[in-house]
Amino acid sequence: MTIKTSFKMIQPDDWHVHFRRGKILKTVVHFTSKIFYRAFVMPNVIPPITTVKNAENYRKEILDVVANKKQFIPLMVFYLTDNTDVNELVYGYKKNIFYACKLYPINSTINSEYGVSDIKKIYHVLSVMEYFGIPLLIHGELAKNCIDIFDREAEFIKQIMLPLRNRFPMLKVVLEHITTKESVEYVLRSNQYTAATITPHHLMFNRNHMLSDGIKPHFYSFPILKRKKHQEALQYALTTGCDRFFLGTDTAPHFQSDKESCCGKAGIFNAPIALSMYATVFEKLNILKYFEAFCSLNGPKFYNLPINKDNIILIKKSDTIYDSIDCYNNKIIPFLAGKKIKWSVLGN
Ligand code: NCD
Ligand code: ZN
Repeated sequence: MTIKTSFKMIQPDDWHVHFRRGKILKTVVHFTSKIFYRAFVMPNVIPPITTVKNAENYRKEILDVVANKKQFIPLMVFYLTDNTDVNELVYGYKKNIFYACKLYPINSTINSEYGVSDIKKIYHVLSVMEYFGIPLLIHGELAKNCIDIFDREAEFIKQIMLPLRNRFPMLKVVLEHITTKESVEYVLRSNQYTAATITPHHLMFNRNHMLSDGIKPHFYSFPILKRKKHQEALQYALTTGCDRFFLGTDTAPHFQSDKESCCGKAGIFNAPIALSMYATVFEKLNILKYFEAFCSLNGPKFYNLPINKDNIILIKKSDTIYDSIDCYNNKIIPFLAGKKIKWSVLGN
């Protein structure tokens, strides 16, 4: 068996990023833009992205910090609320401003307080989305106090996803950042209208890593890391080679002071090392043959977008991850700060 020490691949896309706005945005965008060609930009900023004007301003803010604007394409996502303006959404989709809509069940995660309080309130919107082929990206957790935080994803599949799918059989749905065996099984038994993204942290870690040897705020994100058997189910999903699983890092930067706090925020800033983490997992599972498809082909296929033209080269070379990244008068701590990574993108 030959051990790969470098390989060339089609430039990947990141189908789930949080850039924030202002100082954090200025600090973090290039960690994504220097590796990925396109990214779905999550709309959970304040105010949430619910109009074309707001999305255009946000996109401009991102492009203003990308050195060569041609080399990175931020794709904007529409934030669904109980009072979604369907005309605005369709207008923005037809103008190629919006590429998808995001469903945040209300209070399920950071800045989801404008999210949907009852899925039935947006059934008319979903019907229009199904008609036009607008993808629905879902934060699939049923966030109620009566539901244990570790069960929220499985409950979402049961209580919301199954009826939604029955009602809208041809709606394009992406279950984002899946974390459980239940979600993996659901996607595998679904058809071409259902896909999922998987983050590098949910593939590499489980809740023991976050909680068993001291509490680690930089491992805290939503959906929360689950038991080992769920981590293994996510890895199993990759080994099937199913083309409805693809890359979405859910890179979610916060200031150090907001993470290392008595009430720390959920979100992992993994952009600097995400691709390396994925490569590490695929290599360990001995499935590097599926790596390029997961990173660069399956997403465009599902979203009906062209495959990127450029290539990147990944090389096996040990590197130490930054301890911290300056962000004006604060710092952002990258995931696995100070630890070693095995793979790097040539030229970065
Ligand atoms: C995200 C954020 O910080 O905006 N947090 C997270 O833990 N992933 C929101 C989200 O994707 O749930
Ligand atoms: Zn996210």
